[in-house]
Amino acid sequence: MISLWFGFVAVTLAFLFMQLSRKDKRELPGPVAFPILGNIVQMMSAFQTYTYPFTHFAEKYGEIYRLKLPFDEMVVLASYDAVNTVLSKEESFGRDLSGIMIDRNFGQNIGMLFGNGEMWDKSRKWIVRNLRDFGFGKSHLLEASVNNEIDNFLDNLEEREKDPCKIILPVSQTFLVPVSRVMYKMMAGYDTKIENETLLEMNQQTSLMEKASGITGTVGAALAMYIPQIRFIFPEWTGRNVQLSCRETMQKESRKLLAVAKDKMSKSGVQADSLTEKFVLQMKEESKLKINSGIFTDLSHDILFADLFQASSNTTASYLEAFFLFMILYPNVQEKLFRELQDTIPDGHEITYHDKNRMVYAQAVMLEVHRVAKITQHLLPRRAITDFDYKNFRIKKNSIIMADMNSLFNNPGIFQDPLSFNPERFIDANGSLVNEKLVIPFSVGKRSCPGELFADVTAFLMAMHFINKYKLSTVPGEPKPKEAMHIGITSCPYEFSMLMTKRQ
Ligand code: HEM
Repeated sequence: MISLWFGFVAVTLAFLFMQLSRKDKRELPGPVAFPILGNIVQMMSAFQTYTYPFTHFAEKYGEIYRLKLPFDEMVVLASYDAVNTVLSKEESFGRDLSGIMIDRNFGQNIGMLFGNGEMWDKSRKWIVRNLRDFGFGKSHLLEASVNNEIDNFLDNLEEREKDPCKIILPVSQTFLVPVSRVMYKMMAGYDTKIENETLLEMNQQTSLMEKASGITGTVGAALAMYIPQIRFIFPEWTGRNVQLSCRETMQKESRKLLAVAKDKMSKSGVQADSLTEKFVLQMKEESKLKINSGIFTDLSHDILFADLFQASSNTTASYLEAFFLFMILYPNVQEKLFRELQDTIPDGHEITYHDKNRMVYAQAVMLEVHRVAKITQHLLPRRAITDFDYKNFRIKKNSIIMADMNSLFNNPGIFQDPLSFNPERFIDANGSLVNEKLVIPFSVGKRSCPGELFADVTAFLMAMHFINKYKLSTVPGEPKPKEAMHIGITSCPYEFSMLMTKRQ
């Protein structure tokens, strides 16, 4: 027993010695790694001690460093230069499909969110190109759909309340349904009806899946990222069961849409009025030509549907929650925004996305909400496709690449007094917008978020509708809501309510 113990100590010491006297000057800095465990112990301790554990490591190891995991190496980017350079290189265009995310994708390389290589490239190009026909981005179709959703939402709310001029609205999860309905209609067609309950269920399952996933999820899920086999032994603990249940819910809805679209597109002379109908046309085309790209199958529709639904709703709705949180915590900002809105649309015309160009203060507020809230704190992990260099450092093939947005957005050298909510930081002495390029919540490069414009149009129109119609405030008698975010794959404010008093 004693010799075994000595053996272990000797191996550990030899390993540490080898690490400390590492020869390759291009090796990334990082904490001393232990045999088998790598840096798991240091990471667990940092995650328990610090709100921003990656920033804690960055303070020690600089703008780019590595954390060793039992079977993997994680590279963390912690400066603008590192994020912009590394994430724009094609070598970083792989996506990390590990742990219970393998189950999400039915164990296959398909789709846009977690797809890799040629499959990802082709799927992304087809989806983005075709979604444009149905209003993706800046278009009257999208604006009309958002305005319609928010009008319905507010009408229903006022009808339900005893005093429609003073409404207490629990904000958490409230925007999931209107936001996801806009996305859903783009995929399914503007005439398609879907129950609020179905949308809510898909969103709730997605939230549960996100909470149970990844490095910021449960310990079990984080471990399954490195030892995927354990998810079969502990399906509950690792979040595999939650993932499978979410997958089933999304697949059920996807198949319903496909069945309706296949039926419609089987008739001659009909045109495709939704993404799913275009998808079915493409399926028919491939079958006629006897080719199979693998992109147009029932299963890949399931994943595409889940990709668009899951990537769009939680993110945009959480951003809106954060926007309203800061509006009630900073009433002066809200009042200034309201005055700018009044000056921009003095004739009372319905607010359009075009009006945003003339609203410098609104743009500054929206940027500041992104900066402070950091909805995707670590962006979405990538994988290095091959070895490549950043400055004098080597990023090894298969490394998981994460970004630490806190190190960027809360850097006092870049944003003075970074912890204070201050939209004015984005406006110069001449009243022009400045430093907007420093806010990169949608990431950078060819693998950045394709939904940026959709999210911005949706959030801007929904937020301005509220500001125009109601004065928003904290609820008297309730504790002041927390300014900090609940950090996850998608971060969001802790539960809070707001009082909406109708403006005259
Ligand atoms: C506030 C809202 C949003 C934020 C903060 C956000 C942020 C992000 C980030 C950081 C990524 C990872 C990009 C990378 O790896 O470099 C991403 C990917 C993605 N987002 Fe968004 N997103 C938002 C809204 C949306 C919306 C509305 C949609 C869809 C309409 C969408 C669809 C996607 C998709 C499909 C991907 C995967 C892209 C790929 O891997 O090629 N997102 N998003």
